[in-house]
Amino acid sequence: MEEKILVLNFGGQYDQLIARRAREMHVYAEIKPCHEVTPEEIRELGYQGIIFTGGPNSVSQPESPRCAPEILELGIPILGICYGAQLMACLAGGEVGGAGTRSEYGKTALRVEECPLFQKVPRESVCWMSHTDFIQKLPAGFSVLASTENCPCAALGDEERRLYGVQFHPEVTHTACGQQILHNFLFEICGCRGLWNMEDVLSQTIEEYREKLAGKKVLLALSGGVDSSVAALLLQRAVGEDLTCVFVDHGLLRKGEGDLIEETFRGRFGLNLVRVNAEERFLKELSGVTEPEKKRKLIGEEFVRVFEEEAKRLGNIQVLAQGTIYPDVIESGKGSAAVIKSHHNVGGLPDVMSFESIAEPLRQLFKDEVREMGTRLGLPKELVWRQPFPGPGLAVRVIGEVTKERLELLREADAIFRQELEAAGQEAKASQYFAVLTSLKSVGVVGDARAYGYTVALRAVTTDDFMTAEWTRLPYEVLEKASSRITNEVPGITRVVYDVTSKPPATVEWE
Ligand code: XMP
Repeated sequence: MEEKILVLNFGGQYDQLIARRAREMHVYAEIKPCHEVTPEEIRELGYQGIIFTGGPNSVSQPESPRCAPEILELGIPILGICYGAQLMACLAGGEVGGAGTRSEYGKTALRVEECPLFQKVPRESVCWMSHTDFIQKLPAGFSVLASTENCPCAALGDEERRLYGVQFHPEVTHTACGQQILHNFLFEICGCRGLWNMEDVLSQTIEEYREKLAGKKVLLALSGGVDSSVAALLLQRAVGEDLTCVFVDHGLLRKGEGDLIEETFRGRFGLNLVRVNAEERFLKELSGVTEPEKKRKLIGEEFVRVFEEEAKRLGNIQVLAQGTIYPDVIESGKGSAAVIKSHHNVGGLPDVMSFESIAEPLRQLFKDEVREMGTRLGLPKELVWRQPFPGPGLAVRVIGEVTKERLELLREADAIFRQELEAAGQEAKASQYFAVLTSLKSVGVVGDARAYGYTVALRAVTTDDFMTAEWTRLPYEVLEKASSRITNEVPGITRVVYDVTSKPPATVEWE
């Protein structure tokens, strides 16, 4: 990697956002927890610049996260953000204390001085603040570069040593000139040139894996999700026929999805694809089970069993490939190649399976970068932009016991809802939308007769990260059409409701 910066995380939640902001400007950014790297390693790894993230602690507490003060002496430019700025001030000999009633939270008017960090930033603009401590005494060699009404040192810097700190958060969009400030740090202060781009990443990764995997047989569990799909196409470019993909069809997919996966990967891309039709096995396992976590566990275990059997049957496989992406690596906290992509997906693949090595060609990429790579590899739009779909599939959308009949009802209702929402051009509004077959039966009228059928719940949510979500305000007309079609076209469903609960308090899925 010719050019890269380090995002040193001090426990804040914005580490990934900061790295993505840098990558959007074509500067490759790596994240490491603050206690995991030494100054020597940082020097050896050849970073062009370092960003210290914010964090929830107070630097005045002895147990709060820190880094070696020598990092400031490496001659590498540093930008400290919030806690990171306070820590930098402390390490350089300044003082930080409680801001008391001068704590700031939210959009705040900022006034900046002329300096390399604030080039092209107006003297007055709006920034996003979130702090209860502030810098009370500047370290020697630093000057104040910005202030707000309540924060006399909203930015500080030592231009000679190229050390800068900002009390506010330039990485969030509420800071009007945040991207310009990060740009100034990366390009004007660190001297980056913005060389990182997806075309090169793609060709370099293919080349890297072509060499690494030469002469080896590779096995990949393909789910049809964007990560495993992109990993499959990428590895196919690297090793061609030596790649075999196993698609365990657990019979819990949405209408037509299994066939789409098969048609796309075997039909269109000519991949060595083994589709294991394991619906019966999964249904047998799930028979009589109503508890959601038990369903998840059983499905995870059965998935592993089927996959293992298939690997054994194929034999002579040296490498297990996985669609692990950068957030999986960071969140696992291990940062090692042994990280298994388990999410709450499929319980992870077993350690007992003996492979020589694991290949994770996407482990440096964020989701949006994986999507970009997928597009470049020719992956169809509906797979590139596929909504998140739980590993246990429709089993967690059939409330209570999962049976073939109930799955069929749900599949039909779900397909109608998705069709209607898309026909009305509403898909950009919702991040995820689906139907749930509740276990509630109620009375209805079909023709002249009374019927006793299931209630289906429709769910659509709007969110950036799925940690919190708003229920989507769909037009009544869409809901009306979906409801009327479902009750007319799916015998056995007599009532349709729309879920108007956000997350929290509700989760996205019903189980
Ligand atoms: P919740 O329901 O937890 O969902 O608000 C947040 C996101 O995670 C997805 N989800 C799952 N994904 N296995 C998965 O791979 C699961 O068991 C699972 N449960 C929920 C959900 O669809 C949403 O996108």
